Amino acid sequence: MINVILLGPPGAGKGTQARRLSDDRGLVQLSTGDMLREAKTSGTELGNRVAEVMARGELVTDDIVIGLIAEKLEDATAAGFIFDGFPRTLAQADALGALLDRLGQTLDAVIEMRVDDAALVERITGRFTCGNCGEVYHDRTKPTKVAGVCDVCGSTDLRRRADDTEEALKTRLMEYYKKTSPLIGYYHAKGNLRSVDGLAPVEDVARAIAEVLDKR
Ligand code: AP5
Repeated sequence: MINVILLGPPGAGKGTQARRLSDDRGLVQLSTGDMLREAKTSGTELGNRVAEVMARGELVTDDIVIGLIAEKLEDATAAGFIFDGFPRTLAQADALGALLDRLGQTLDAVIEMRVDDAALVERITGRFTCGNCGEVYHDRTKPTKVAGVCDVCGSTDLRRRADDTEEALKTRLMEYYKKTSPLIGYYHAKGNLRSVDGLAPVEDVARAIAEVLDKR
């Protein structure tokens, strides 16, 4: 069992690397962003409640996301979890620690993906994803091989997120610096923080993350 947090601002590449880790090591990707978007698409009461908050780029409340994660952690068959976009506040980090303790599990690594803000605008405004299998693309750096068709599953349901605008990104970055970046010091103090260069090509970032996990 191995539990890993991918920590970084919007567009750092957390989702891209989480999917790879999930394929390569059989870990379960827990993306609170994906869970909330699913709730929105299926029109649940929770989805309706968080839709506007997410579109503005603000964080949803701690109790909602902690509840979503708590449910998933009960999956005893998982080889381990990759936390993608969670925790995002100190309260969420404390709650995750308590949940893992209760289940007799440990947090094995917190990987900070270092990037600079200038690169994020380009990454975020060029991103689109497959609505069927979740593969992540980019207009310039990772287009589909056939326009409008997912390389992985052949679906034509390619989507852009409502919060992937320059305007919402400003708020998302501000939320990150105010509420999430303090987690870097928090996990550093706990001794499990490692950093990788998130500006490197996808393959190199994946290699750097693999090295961190293999050296544990
Ligand atoms: P969430 O879905 O978690 O979004 P985010 O953290 O803003 O992160 P992103 O998904 O935008 O980016 P990413 O780092 O995964 O990058 P990606 O791999 O896609 O959260 C959305 C919203 O939900 C929040 O704003 C909030 O409202 C709510 N929420 C979620 N979790 C919450 C929580 N815990 N508490 C409270 N609220 C919460 O890559 C981006 C692009 O770059 C892609 O096009 C990709 O192809 C490209 N790319 C990736 N890596 C590279 C590379 N190395 N080189 C070049 N291009 C690359």
